[in-house]
Amino acid sequence: MAKHVCPWWLGYLVASPVRRLMYDPAKILPPYVREGMTVLEPGPGMGFFTLELARLVGPSGRVVAVDIQPRMIEGLKRRAARAGLLERVDARLVASGSMGVKDLAGTADLALAFAVVHELPAAASFFIEITEALKPGGHLLFAEPTGHVNAAQFESQLQAAAWAGLQLADRPSIRFNRTAVLKKP
Ligand SMILES: C[S@@+](CC[C@H](N)C(=O)[O-])C[C@H]1O[C@@H](n2cnc3c(N)ncnc32)[C@H](O)[C@@H]1O
Repeated sequence: MAKHVCPWWLGYLVASPVRRLMYDPAKILPPYVREGMTVLEPGPGMGFFTLELARLVGPSGRVVAVDIQPRMIEGLKRRAARAGLLERVDARLVASGSMGVKDLAGTADLALAFAVVHELPAAASFFIEITEALKPGGHLLFAEPTGHVNAAQFESQLQAAAWAGLQLADRPSIRFNRTAVLKKP
């Protein structure tokens, strides 16, 4: 059955600075991101996390952000350009079902999947693609909103990640979210 996908017009709200009052990318991301890193972000929307990722990876790093909705990608590019960060953001429009990131194979230092896995047609193949994109020792920061994903559903997503070869490294606390850090051994 097709999953509900966040409509593009909600992208403005989801990327609004007001959301930082609940949880702030500038506080969440620094422990996981260093200058020069390659970061993969599936489902960036209009860039609530992407812009902070781009700041943190610096001029020598890059953020590969893949989304299935043209309006999300357009909004993300607009906002990245306004912030002077577009050069660091490789924003890609992809088909649902595959992220189309074979070119990253074994090179991504970090993947960020925030509020996106519950929208995907198949979590199992998603985690396999993440595992393939990450370098050994790379991490996936994975968060799902408590309002959309209950505890049992999150555990079965973690099970799918484990089958794909990702190991649970941490369970950080992010308000209103179920969260895990997973590592590619
Ligand atoms: C709820 S929004 C979250 C946006 C962003 N991660 C954030 O937390 O601000 C979910 C995003 O995932 C995207 N998405 C849904 N299915 C996808 C898929 N199969 N591949 C890539 N992106 C997808 C949607 O278009 C939307 O931009």
